Amino acid sequence: MKFAPLAVLASLSLGVHAHFRLLFPEPRGVFVADQEPNFCGGYSDVTTNRTTFPLEGGFFRIRQGHEDWSTSVLVSVAPNPNSFDTFKSGGEDLYARFWANESKTGNFCIPLDLSASGVSGVEDGANVTIQIVLNGGDGQLYQCADLTLSSNYTFPSDIQSACVNETADHTAHGTETSTSPSTSETAGSSGSGNGQLGGFEHLPVLSALGAGVVGALIAIAL
Ligand SMILES: *[C@@H]1O[C@H](CO)[C@@H](O)[C@H](O)[C@H]1NC(C)=O
Ligand SMILES: *[C@@H]1O[C@H](CO)[C@@H](O)[C@H](O)[C@H]1NC(C)=O
Ligand SMILES: *[C@@H]1O[C@H](CO)[C@@H](O)[C@H](O)[C@H]1NC(C)=O
Ligand SMILES: *[C@@H]1O[C@H](CO)[C@@H](O)[C@H](O)[C@H]1NC(C)=O
Ligand SMILES: *[C@@H]1O[C@H](CO)[C@@H](O)[C@H](O)[C@H]1NC(C)=O
Repeated sequence: MKFAPLAVLASLSLGVHAHFRLLFPEPRGVFVADQEPNFCGGYSDVTTNRTTFPLEGGFFRIRQGHEDWSTSVLVSVAPNPNSFDTFKSGGEDLYARFWANESKTGNFCIPLDLSASGVSGVEDGANVTIQIVLNGGDGQLYQCADLTLSSNYTFPSDIQSACVNETADHTAHGTETSTSPSTSETAGSSGSGNGQLGGFEHLPVLSALGAGVVGALIAIAL
């Protein structure tokens, strides 16, 4: 009867994707972990409470808890971007920002100059939608934000000042004041940044699962 609990653990661990949070601009709706592998993180329809976003010199901010990830940004000028096809033209993805890779975990402010996308209709006053695509090594994850572009908009100081990179690799520990050791950290897993990323609501579950899986593996080895 050893197989049943192992199978449960295996399927649970498969469900632990390399989730990320889109912190700015605000996504279409509240974060739902299970939905993140789906189009726009499960929010398929456009919202009306758009975020004003600069045409040039913008950025997006994400929190990423797994090492070795890459991200890209797609843009759509469709009135209701509700499918992956609405982020394509002639079958090609409309990139506002092509894939870039990063090894560290933490919070990242990533420059996003939408005017440089060259996508027709991305202009002053336009309503557009961006879809942040993140690859953490186990498939792609998605979050969307509905925007209104402005060529004369500058970020308020609170948004501007929140934009700092706060990486959470081992060497950064000393700079973090609210660090609490996590079980996955002592296990030396790739979730070592989790201690810093206390904002993840599912973190206790993740840590518990991590410990459970490690425990199960040790049990087998013994
Ligand atoms: C828009 O409204 C929805 C529902 O109230 C909310 O979840 C979402 O965060 C809002 N988005 C923005 C960009 O304010
Ligand atoms: C942009 O979207 C807002 C909110 O949905 C809407 O009120 C406005 O008319 C739209 N503007 C354009 C140019 O389509
Ligand atoms: C960067 O990420 C992309 C997409 O995940 C991948 O195809 C590529 O090999 C990565 N490049 C490097 C240098 O790691
Ligand atoms: C944050 O890190 C990203 C990725 O390394 C980099 O592209 C960006 O310029 C940095 N942003 C700030 C505000 O330091
Ligand atoms: C900024 O641009 C918008 C159009 O995108 C316009 O309605 C507004 O008046 C402009 N504001 C200033 C301060 O120039």
